[in-house]
Amino acid sequence: MPLLTLCVESDLTILRSMPDSEASERPGPGVPGGIERIGVVGCGLMGSGVAEVSARAGLAVVVVEAEDELAKAGRFRIEASLSRGLKSGKISQEDLDGALAKIDVTSDYDTLGACDLIVEAVTESEPAKEEVFRILDRVVENPEAILASNTSSIPIMKLGMVTARPERVVGLHFFNPVPVLKLVELVPSLLTGEDTVSRVEAFATERLGKRVIHCQDRAGFVVNALLIPYILSAVRMMESGFASAGDIDTGMVEGCAHPMGPLALADLIGLDTTAAVAQSLYEEFKEPLYAPPPLLLRMVEAGLMGRKAGRGFFEYARL
Ligand SMILES: NC(=O)c1ccc[n+]([C@@H]2O[C@H](COP(=O)([O-])OP(=O)(O)OC[C@H]3O[C@@H](n4cnc5c(N)ncnc54)[C@H](O)[C@@H]3O)[C@@H](O)[C@H]2O)c1
Repeated sequence: MPLLTLCVESDLTILRSMPDSEASERPGPGVPGGIERIGVVGCGLMGSGVAEVSARAGLAVVVVEAEDELAKAGRFRIEASLSRGLKSGKISQEDLDGALAKIDVTSDYDTLGACDLIVEAVTESEPAKEEVFRILDRVVENPEAILASNTSSIPIMKLGMVTARPERVVGLHFFNPVPVLKLVELVPSLLTGEDTVSRVEAFATERLGKRVIHCQDRAGFVVNALLIPYILSAVRMMESGFASAGDIDTGMVEGCAHPMGPLALADLIGLDTTAAVAQSLYEEFKEPLYAPPPLLLRMVEAGLMGRKAGRGFFEYARL
């Protein structure tokens, strides 16, 4: 059989074996997915959010940052988010205290040894993530433990292949801000086991109350493959002098009822992350619409990372 036919058939087989989104709401027995102890690696925008929602769901969470100082900053980020939830009346003082008591933020990878599920949420860099997966493969004791990546664009296959357990490696892509947005993209590689997918899905839906969609292991998955070209078009529009940042964003907010404009959204995501995801999409598909525009790259080089840096396309109070 010609190679092309084989490839197409194997992708169709994967598609057929994927449960649809409605099926993602089916209940599972006992503790959802058998997952009780959560590890998170990286306590930036996303890792802190994953830690927060897991602790609020009553799970014990260990979060590992690269250094002690970053661990302190990460814990502060979680406390600040919970305090915002308290002020806005979304959670009680008891919820806040209970969640904080369940979270341990450290720089010691060995504390992840007993975890059932570890969500990697470090900077969007392939070498950095591969190194984290090599370490996780060494320190995690439970052979059933699942190693998930929150990557937006790096192939899950590559992360699985640096471990001795690719069948237990999966993409679990949360959305920012994690405590607010319900969606999670669940991304198996060609080697991810079906039980890994069903356990993670049970955890995400039943324990965290998330809505799961499934997609293949392709850069950008569903949402970023659609969202990033839109954001990059707005950057190109501004770069060419077509319209100002304010007018571009006002156009989409007032004209299309989007909750925020594309440039404010890029600032929220982080311009470094936006550029890295665009680069991965471009490398994967070689489509010009995914190529990061020079203005975006220059802003990243200048440290204008968006909201987290106090300045991107717009200015913000420092976090
Ligand atoms: N920002 C978003 O809107 C968004 C949305 C969905 C997914 N993601 C993905 O989530 C991941 C993290 O993005 P983010 O926005 O939280 O980035 P971020 O820059 O806010 O945080 C990354 C954190 O990882 C830490 N880190 C780096 N190397 C580490 C290591 N070896 N060990 C432990 N910690 C390490 C950094 O110190 C930093 O605190 C990326 O893969 C990104 O693509 C981001």
